[in-house]
Amino acid sequence: MPQATYHFPNGFLWGTATSSHQVEGNNTNNNWAAWEAQEGRIKFGHKAGLACDWWGGRWKEDFDRAADTGQNAHRLSIEWSRIQPKPDSWNEEALNYYREMIRGLEQRNMTPMVTLHHFSDPLWLMDLGGWENPDVPALFDKFVAKVVEALKEYVSLWVTINEPNVYTYGGYLGGGFPPGKNDLKSAFAVLSNMVQAHALAYRTIHRIQKHARVGIALNYRSFAPARPASPFDRWMAGFLHNNFNLSFIRAISEGTFRFALQKTSIPEASKTQDFVGINYYSRDLVAFKPLAFNSLFHKLSYPKNADLSDTGFIANIPEGMFEALKWANRFKLPIIVTENGVEDADDHLRPRYTIQHIHQMWRAINFNYPIKGYFHWSLVDNFEWERGWTQRFGLWGLDPETQVRTRRPSVDVYADICQRNGIASEMVEKYAPEVFASLFPA
Ligand code: FCB
Repeated sequence: MPQATYHFPNGFLWGTATSSHQVEGNNTNNNWAAWEAQEGRIKFGHKAGLACDWWGGRWKEDFDRAADTGQNAHRLSIEWSRIQPKPDSWNEEALNYYREMIRGLEQRNMTPMVTLHHFSDPLWLMDLGGWENPDVPALFDKFVAKVVEALKEYVSLWVTINEPNVYTYGGYLGGGFPPGKNDLKSAFAVLSNMVQAHALAYRTIHRIQKHARVGIALNYRSFAPARPASPFDRWMAGFLHNNFNLSFIRAISEGTFRFALQKTSIPEASKTQDFVGINYYSRDLVAFKPLAFNSLFHKLSYPKNADLSDTGFIANIPEGMFEALKWANRFKLPIIVTENGVEDADDHLRPRYTIQHIHQMWRAINFNYPIKGYFHWSLVDNFEWERGWTQRFGLWGLDPETQVRTRRPSVDVYADICQRNGIASEMVEKYAPEVFASLFPA
């Protein structure tokens, strides 16, 4: 058996990613809490509830777990509804608590990456019409200024908005998120307001902190034609790529926003990112369906015999990771993998999924794509939005009732990678022998 280690550059960031509503618990003042209270919105009526009880202090033990297993970074998000519970009030205590959490990362020698918007919105903002309201970019900017002032001592890596494409698809194109709309006009308004909000936040952060590095986390889906010979499937795959993957990031690179055959110019958004953040999970096959009015004339599927996750949500297609990174490199900026992971309660798939995706990232680095870090989704099982607790993305398992954590074998896989700053053949042989030959050919 060949022996080798695939090394990563010095200073590479190895972490996990989380988000406020998914891990903190007791978030009662946001759109997701309200959504969870409505019947039929969340699988099995699940609720975030206590989540991972970070607001109750369990972030300490979870940060210990991360630090003890070699992680040198962590990506978390700040809950807007806690910091600004009402339009005219700021909660300094909540801000202090976030400072304490982030100091906790510093004490454990972990670099914080802070997301300012990760799907959840204050209830008062929704009462104003949410992100469809053109006043929201300015409101978001005030919140951003408040947070950045409070955390600037400790944080210099900022994600303004997590997955604007998923937020919009989920909430405004029938994808099961609040506010449960299905309306292209609203979707266009939300996305263009998010472009403006990002641009304002970019300038505000740099005004407060000269050396800040600011970007978004983009959910990149790899789209391939279901029937490669079909010009319709190819056209549809290209259309989805342009709308889902490209449109937002093009707007914040070039200042033109094109979405669903509409176009608007937002010149102030041009060149407002310092890195490209990529969340990559899977690849879809795209079939053109001329009669599928309600699903924009297409159907998505995974290949037959795909290596599927527990609920079929994710197919293990590591080549898509390489494709995503190659594509990200066209923006000529540093790249950070801000999320990647898989739902897998008994951990039969996660070891190989993780190893294979990190291996594709290593390949991309060998093409000189400037990749600076990787954040695995996620540290501990947490509340998976409209899928509730049915999906288990953690390196550690969680019983949300008892708050007991269990260490999955993937903890050791990821620890080995973080500690060596590389993928070692012995580790692959031990934890994912089924992919050994493809990673380390004789
Ligand atoms: C991403 C989200 C994250 C988590 C993972 C599984 O789209 O950013 O909050 O739900 O998917």
